[in-house]
Amino acid sequence: MSLIFRPLFEKESSTYTYLLADSKTKEAIIIDAVSETKQRDIGLIEELGLTLKYIIETHVHADHITSSCPLKEKFTQAQIVLGEANAVACADVLIKDGESLDFGEFNIKAMSTPGHTDGCMSFVVGDKVFTGDALLIRSCGRCDFQGGSADKLFNSISKLFSLPDETYVYPAHDYGGRTVSSIWEEKTFNEMIGGGVDKQEFVRRVNAMELSLPAKIHVAVPSNQVCGSRIITNKP
Ligand SMILES: [Fe+2]
Repeated sequence: MSLIFRPLFEKESSTYTYLLADSKTKEAIIIDAVSETKQRDIGLIEELGLTLKYIIETHVHADHITSSCPLKEKFTQAQIVLGEANAVACADVLIKDGESLDFGEFNIKAMSTPGHTDGCMSFVVGDKVFTGDALLIRSCGRCDFQGGSADKLFNSISKLFSLPDETYVYPAHDYGGRTVSSIWEEKTFNEMIGGGVDKQEFVRRVNAMELSLPAKIHVAVPSNQVCGSRIITNKP
């Protein structure tokens, strides 16, 4: 068996979508799919002959609209998965910390990593961790809306740092064109928390971030609370 692994990029919101599948059984999962690139993603799934089993969100995003619902309309057997802390009625599975889902011979394990939002989950598949907006390459998610807490994020990243050093880190975004890091690299070089920064200093740094609100927040959050259902995306 081998793992099919296709990182995909949406350039307007600099979001990474990850498609993974068992090459033998063709069962597949997709993590953080984006509305703008749904045709590309559907095309790739069909081209590779995959059976989409789970549509997974690391969290309710504020910067882009998910394509969860449209993907489920297309691949009706697929189930939408979010962390249990997200009160999202469109989810088929509200996954808890430590629970796993199978796709073919592989499995994906949920790790609760709140802080960027209160419902953030990271997901581990073998030697890869998909960190959403909890841990970014050399950075971390902001904590100033959606129940964010720098204190909780420190604990969550510390938990991610307990993974083996060689674990590959795949974030939900990168604004500088980087595609992958490792737990060791982030422990060592992360500009917010690397090099043994303590909680007090981390919280100070997060609170000192000066960021404007994501342009789409007032559309994206309500849309994503219904998994990107077309009803409220204001699209024709
Ligand atoms: Fe986010």
